[in-house]
Amino acid sequence: MAKEIKIFDTTLRDGEQSPGCSMNLMEKIEMAKQLERLNVDVIEAGFAIASPGDFESVRTIAETVTRPTVASLARAVKEDIDAAWDAVKVAKHPRIHVFLATSPLHMQYKLRMSPDQVIQRVAEMVRYAKNFCDDIEFSAEDATRSEKFFLSEVVETAIANGATTINIPDTVGYTTPEEMYDLMVHLNQTVKGVDNIILSTHCHNDLGMAVGNSLAAIRGGARQVECTVNGIGERAGNAALEEIVMALKTRQDIYDAYTKVDSTQIYRSSKLLTSIIGIRPNPTKPVVGRNAFAHESGVHQHGVMANKATYEIMTPQDIGIPNNEMVLGKHSGRHAFMERLGYLGIELDKKQTDEAFQKFKALADKKKIVTDRDIESIVGRNMVRFDGKYHFKYFAVNSATEVGATATVTLEWDGGKSSRRLACIGEGMVEAAFGAIDQITGMSPELIEYNVQAVTEGIDSQGEVTCRMCINDINVTGSGASTDIIEASMMAYIDGINKLVYEIEKRGADS
Ligand code: KIV
Ligand code: ZN
Repeated sequence: MAKEIKIFDTTLRDGEQSPGCSMNLMEKIEMAKQLERLNVDVIEAGFAIASPGDFESVRTIAETVTRPTVASLARAVKEDIDAAWDAVKVAKHPRIHVFLATSPLHMQYKLRMSPDQVIQRVAEMVRYAKNFCDDIEFSAEDATRSEKFFLSEVVETAIANGATTINIPDTVGYTTPEEMYDLMVHLNQTVKGVDNIILSTHCHNDLGMAVGNSLAAIRGGARQVECTVNGIGERAGNAALEEIVMALKTRQDIYDAYTKVDSTQIYRSSKLLTSIIGIRPNPTKPVVGRNAFAHESGVHQHGVMANKATYEIMTPQDIGIPNNEMVLGKHSGRHAFMERLGYLGIELDKKQTDEAFQKFKALADKKKIVTDRDIESIVGRNMVRFDGKYHFKYFAVNSATEVGATATVTLEWDGGKSSRRLACIGEGMVEAAFGAIDQITGMSPELIEYNVQAVTEGIDSQGEVTCRMCINDINVTGSGASTDIIEASMMAYIDGINKLVYEIEKRGADS
């Protein structure tokens, strides 16, 4: 009988802690809601002890989602476990995830603990966590570089003290599929009590083998896989959720396993994450890359036209890619628009629907054909649209060869009670516009990355812009979309400024 594989999503913990991937509270909640729609089994919402902000996001996610288990990471120390429990205890299904390193390198140089001390700490801390919560996961950090029989002893100790899931991380992305398979078989053969718990794996992608190693672990007996949307994570990332889910679905004949993930939510999850962090998957990235379903060569196109299966092992529909045909036009009313949102499985509250409808109308005036992808673009941003201090009101730009560019920008704040118009010059229109926004808001963030991409084909396509920006150690990503890329750029920049203002005020209030 086919085996069920639990999907443990760590986008909001391992993913979020990697450079350029930080999210604010509201964004984490939006992402958590989307992960619930995606139907993952476990959401690792963060590392509660790491900061007051992390604690608050774990707790809020625990309050918000109801179907998945919500986990917080904790080192094997009481303070971490206390904080983790405080943050997840409101969840319908809480989990405490305790970890301790087990490789000789980590024990000697990082922990400065002997193997016996490690065993003892595992026993004490798993037992301590078990006082609070039934669902305890233990991870043996750097498991794949640990001595095999010592690892068995650690795992057995964790099980004997109440762990219900045992995770075997390939922390530094060092292992290979063959080695991972052997390790899982070894644990299954040597550990007392292994049949009563779920064995899990958590692979990093340093050698590009994270997904292959996760699948090998499944063949070796793992029943939970830890992964992230778009494969984001420390260094080269974690195993990509969408690749694991689609590999299991497409090659059931090999793995005889399935997940409960709703694969038609994959595209939307990937897009939402991209719009939040501003980091696009590589175009050739499996499953969610821009080219993943593109057939460029004539031979391939011809084959696909005759029979899709010639060059397509999964379909765009499998992962929920919206079609790119005209679905609405400038005469479509609110009812048709809402019906389309329903068809796309997008739920918005009244205020968000009003805002999205207005944006749709404005877009339909400029663009003859409004496709599902356009709607996704409007609404994707709308879902995480940060209702910040500054609102964009007006702009005019001018640019000419050799003389450079001028931008005039008006921003409003205090609900429209205050406003300012300012003109600025620059080498190009974007520089001039951003300069005007800096002067009005009194902020001058470092622009770390600026990205423009067309939503659909054609000259009238919307441009989606993301700006990664930073002040001191606060990193944010702003996003915007418009048929005018200067307007989209300003929207993205103001969105980023608003997030910075929010974070700066929040940190001021917390300290
Ligand atoms: O990579 C790793 O070892 C981890 C653990 C904390 C699970 O992220
Ligand atoms: Zn990790």
